[in-house]
Order: sequence, then C-alpha cells, then structure tokens
Amino acid sequence: MTKKAGVIGWPVSHSLSPRLHGFWLKKYSINGSYNAIEINPNNLEKFIKDLSFNGFTGLNVTVPYKETVAKLVHVLDENSCRLGAVNTLVVGSDNLIYGSNTDGFGFMQNLIANAPQWKSKNSVAVVLGAGGAAKSIISSLINSGISEIRLTNRTYDEAISLKNNMGSSIKVFKWKNRSNILNDIELLVNTTTLGMIGKPPLDIDLNGLPSKAVVMDIVYSPLITPLLEEAKYRSNPVINGIGMLLHQARPGFHQWFGLKPEVTKELENYVLLGAQS
Ligand code: ATR
Repeated sequence: MTKKAGVIGWPVSHSLSPRLHGFWLKKYSINGSYNAIEINPNNLEKFIKDLSFNGFTGLNVTVPYKETVAKLVHVLDENSCRLGAVNTLVVGSDNLIYGSNTDGFGFMQNLIANAPQWKSKNSVAVVLGAGGAAKSIISSLINSGISEIRLTNRTYDEAISLKNNMGSSIKVFKWKNRSNILNDIELLVNTTTLGMIGKPPLDIDLNGLPSKAVVMDIVYSPLITPLLEEAKYRSNPVINGIGMLLHQARPGFHQWFGLKPEVTKELENYVLLGAQS
C-alpha cells in the first residue's frame, strides 16, 4: 500500500517540502506519496481529526497552522509542548496523532554539518528575532548547552516573553542596539524575515563581530542574503537557510517511510531549483 504524507498550510503552493520528500522517495524507491495540501481554516479541525481515516501516515504543518494544530493532536512530545507549535505529525499504529517540532533539530544539524568548528560550550550567540522560528532555534541552542544567548527583536515585549518562557541564559537587548551586542560572540543568527526577497534588508553593522563568528540566516530566498554577503566579505564563515529546511525534514521522513534520509549537495541543488521557479 502507498504510504501517504504531505504538508498542510494556507497558502502552501510555495512550499519546497513536496520537492524535498519527492526527491527522497524516488532516490530510495519507496512506495509513498507527499503532496502540498491547502486547507481552509474552516476545514482544519476536521482534516486533522480524519487523518487516520483518510489513510495518512503523517504530515508536515506549515504557516499559519503550527500553533493551532499543536492543540488538535492527541500527543505532543516535550519539545513541541514547550514551544506550543508542531511541524511534524505521525499517525501511530494506535491511530492517535503524535506531534513534534523538528525546526530546532534542523537548525542544529545544519549548524553542525556546516560549521563543525562551532562548539556550544562556553559559547555566546546573538539571535535576531523572536517569532516562531526563533523559539525553536533558541530552544535547541539551550539544549546544546550554550552559555549565553543575546536576544533582540523589533517588538521588545516579544523577546521578554520568550526569555520568561525559556530561561536565564537569555539576555534581552533593544532592537536599536543590535549592532552593539556582537562583541565576543561565536554565532549570529537572523531569524527575522528581513533580507527575504520583497522585504527590506537587515540593517546591522558587523564591525564589532569577531572574524571567526559563524553567521547564519534562516532566510533562503535569496540563498545569499545581504547579511551573508557582508559577513562573507568580512571573511566570517556563513551558513544559508536552505540546510535548516532540508534537515528539519529528516525525522518526519524516517517515521513515515521507515528510512533515514540523507542530506546531500545533490538534494540541495534539486530543492533550490524549485525555489527559483
Ligand atoms: P517565523 O515564524 O518565521 O519566525 P514570525 O513569527 O512572523 O515568523 O516572526 C518574524 C520575525 O521577524 C519577528 O521577530 C518579527 O519581529 P516582530 O516580533 O517585531 O514582529 C521580525 N520582523 C519582521 N519584519 C520586521 C522588520 N521590518 N523589522 C524588524 N523585524 C522584523
């Protein structure tokens, strides 16, 4: 029987996940399907309830449903429960729906794969932005044992509430001071939408940034954002956002289709072709 999975969102036609999972399904000759499914908000609850009945083995969940769906599944793991958001659902053999959030895993695996020199021990990171992606990323950085996270966000109160939920290793700074908190750090991560095609670039002065600090952007359209361009020019190691997308997909594919898929350059190039069209 064909194992059926997919990604739900509203809208969802932009999603690169069908291309990504489609590549793996073909590569590993798996009898499975993975499609983008646009769900109207009015139909969301029923769609999730009927997942098992409709023959789904699992789903990815994307914007704007990550929080709503977390409230609809039967079982949340510890991480997704803390984040209050899911991106991966698995229909169990007991027909219950299990939710997890693999965004932080994707972030950390991408960091480890592309900057093996980065170590969490005694390390300081600056995180720009305090939205959904920032929460997952900060949670994974805290789990990795990092000493300090300097967090700054346009809306200060969002950063404060994230700190209040996630603990004492986070220090919050005003957005206008973002260029002044880069000294002595090992990692700078942009989790805002700034730098994305159609959005303004991220305005930050990198003069205070140590030359060994890794600079990561979760934006992947364009692949090299103005932030990464400048960091590259300054000889900092840079990591683009596509790897996080590729790595976050691994646990879902493994659970639905029974095989641990590999992230390769070939996969990255194939998925990126989809981002350009
Ligand atoms: P995601 O779930 O992908 O993280 P999000 O929750 O909408 O998306 O978060 C977007 C982030 O980009 C937020 O940190 C947002 O800041 P606010 O909390 O102030 O909204 C940030 N962001 C978006 N546009 C911005 C802008 N023009 N200047 C600064 N930050 C911006």
